[in-house]
Amino acid sequence: MKNGALWTDISGQPIHAHGGWILQYGDAYYWYGEDRRDRNYVSCYRSTNLSDWEFRNHILTMDSPMRTYRVRTTLKLQRDDGGKVNLERPKVLYNEKTGKFVLWAHYENGKDYLDAAAAVATCDTPDGDFTYHGHFNPYGYMSRDCTLFQDDDGTAYFISASRDNADMHVYRLSDDYMNVDALVHRLWQGEYREAPAVTKIGGRYYMLSSFCTGWAPNQGRYAVSDSMEGRWSALRDIGDETTYHSQPAFILQKDGKVLYFGDRWGGNGEKYFESGYVVYPLIEKDGELHMLYTDESVL
Ligand code: DGJ
Repeated sequence: MKNGALWTDISGQPIHAHGGWILQYGDAYYWYGEDRRDRNYVSCYRSTNLSDWEFRNHILTMDSPMRTYRVRTTLKLQRDDGGKVNLERPKVLYNEKTGKFVLWAHYENGKDYLDAAAAVATCDTPDGDFTYHGHFNPYGYMSRDCTLFQDDDGTAYFISASRDNADMHVYRLSDDYMNVDALVHRLWQGEYREAPAVTKIGGRYYMLSSFCTGWAPNQGRYAVSDSMEGRWSALRDIGDETTYHSQPAFILQKDGKVLYFGDRWGGNGEKYFESGYVVYPLIEKDGELHMLYTDESVL
């Protein structure tokens, strides 16, 4: 799997799981991501070795079932004119207490980026048809590029860019992962971070992110903290001035390896459907994080 290429699944079809996320569940990995073809929003692929991916389902589409819940949201999977809305950077966690797979994503109306909302959907299985529960602005804030992080004790966090991307918000989630429970941080105000991705190495937390240049790649940065709700460091550079031609999607740990998954947006977004993927190793040394460039993905 060449870094930067649009990888294919085991049937030879391109994998459309951009701005994605991999959930390890049971003996398999589930790769979720944006699929903007036809009436799709989010697709799911399954693998046991991270190299051979089987397409499983279009888990969220314009035709997905919708259901309200206790949080007041707007339930809208198509615009009034019948067009598509925009669901970006979907992430999924398994909630042990409820037995549900809970998806969070960035919602926009499909025309501009002014709704800046968080969307939630759930399912009883990792790759079934998800039920859409709508979008909302947490505590009234804008919420754009986002990620999830699940700590070892099951506490989960939703992290998203706010105030026109000027601030990065960290929200602790409620026990069922269906709502925000507290806004625990407004990080790096005025530093305009996008594409957050979090991992935990040796008891410390690392958050990678990009700068804000549309679809064009830029210098990646990371910060470190002793706890998700503790004090985060200032941002430090990682990778080169284009993060080796990528923007962070998520970080996965496997067999002691820390793997950075990024998107290489086709034609800097103009050829979105040709967007490829990269996987670079991350190395932690003396509290510093380093990204290694490789031609081939290291899986
Ligand atoms: C950068 C974001 O990281 C992407 O997810 C997408 O929203 C583009 N901006 C849109 O320009």
